Amino acid sequence: MTDVTQIVLAKRPVGDVTPDCFREEKATLPALNDGELLIVSHYLSLDPYMRPRMSELRSYVPPFEIDRPLTGGSVGEVVESSNPKFAKGDTVIGLLNWATHTVHDGKGLRKIDPTAAPLAANLGVLGMPSFTAWYGMKHICKPKAGETAFVSAATGAVGQVAGQLAKLAGAHVVGCAGDEQKCQWAVREAGYDACFNHRTERDYGAVLDKLCPKGIDSNFENVGGKIFHAAFARMNNFGRIAFCGAISEYQDAEPLAGPPKMFAIVQRRLTIQGFIVSDHNAMLPDFVAEVGGLLKSGKLKSRETIVDGLARAPAAFMGLLKGENFGKLIVKIG
Ligand SMILES: NC(=O)c1ccc[n+]([C@@H]2O[C@H](COP(=O)([O-])OP(=O)(O)OC[C@H]3O[C@@H](n4cnc5c(N)ncnc54)[C@H](OP(=O)(O)O)[C@@H]3O)[C@@H](O)[C@H]2O)c1
Repeated sequence: MTDVTQIVLAKRPVGDVTPDCFREEKATLPALNDGELLIVSHYLSLDPYMRPRMSELRSYVPPFEIDRPLTGGSVGEVVESSNPKFAKGDTVIGLLNWATHTVHDGKGLRKIDPTAAPLAANLGVLGMPSFTAWYGMKHICKPKAGETAFVSAATGAVGQVAGQLAKLAGAHVVGCAGDEQKCQWAVREAGYDACFNHRTERDYGAVLDKLCPKGIDSNFENVGGKIFHAAFARMNNFGRIAFCGAISEYQDAEPLAGPPKMFAIVQRRLTIQGFIVSDHNAMLPDFVAEVGGLLKSGKLKSRETIVDGLARAPAAFMGLLKGENFGKLIVKIG
């Protein structure tokens, strides 16, 4: 029997997530059944996809359940095991509860070497968001020298890696982010050729015309909405759009219309591909080899925000949906 602190979904949000959607509570976990393990959480990743999971929508993952702990990508340590594949002391990564401890059946859990990289990096620049950027850039956007790539949410966990990979491929790379400090980091540290502030810039079309004078050949789309509409209208012939996410739309109570003039997809022979990174897990070793190598050689920079304490996870998550995080948002639990 283990006493834990956990955060459960108290109610489903309508529009913006509010503090009363979460409830922190104490619970006592039962003794382990055969095949189960008890994991103490060290780091919890907060990610935009959690917002759609709070609603009861048809999606590629089932919604969170009311009065049950939310879950998220986490790094933790096995403290007790009745599962032959895992031993006490193993460091593991996988979906764990928003909680100090989780009882897990071992499915989808992976052992990691805790000495290979800072533990939190396994959730960011060496983890799912970076893998997402790598897959979308390498297999959909395919940027090259002489072309222009546009990345929205340019300094987020995914965007910061996507932009740097496009730059390493030789493209002219333009991004957008939510404040001046982020835009400066994108240009000075991540090597973007330009980055505009989507909160102060009123006319996205005009700023893209200025920063992408030859049009856009590839668009790594993280934000959706009006930013996407402006980029879509400026796609060149045979352009590629990796539709990764639409964070600006996740809190909308009513769906936004798509971009006008969809016939442009035909006229300009565009490829628009939505993707879910976990469908491509077989490519994880290729990603680790390439991105791990870039990190070691100092060719890839990364930025993260680490929030201390499980109790701060709800506020941090609500902040993520407003762009308050700078880079990968992670909660240090214990
Ligand atoms: N397809 C997949 O498999 C997959 C996997 C991972 C992530 N994703 C998607 O990829 C996107 C980026 O994820 P991430 O992990 O990089 O998230 P992240 O690190 O939290 O970055 C998201 C950023 O989006 C920006 N943003 C938030 N609300 C916005 C709005 N209304 N308008 C414009 N920008 C807004 C904020 O930065 P600013 O300050 O710049 O506004 C925020 O920091 C999300 O759409 C996510 O759902 C998809």
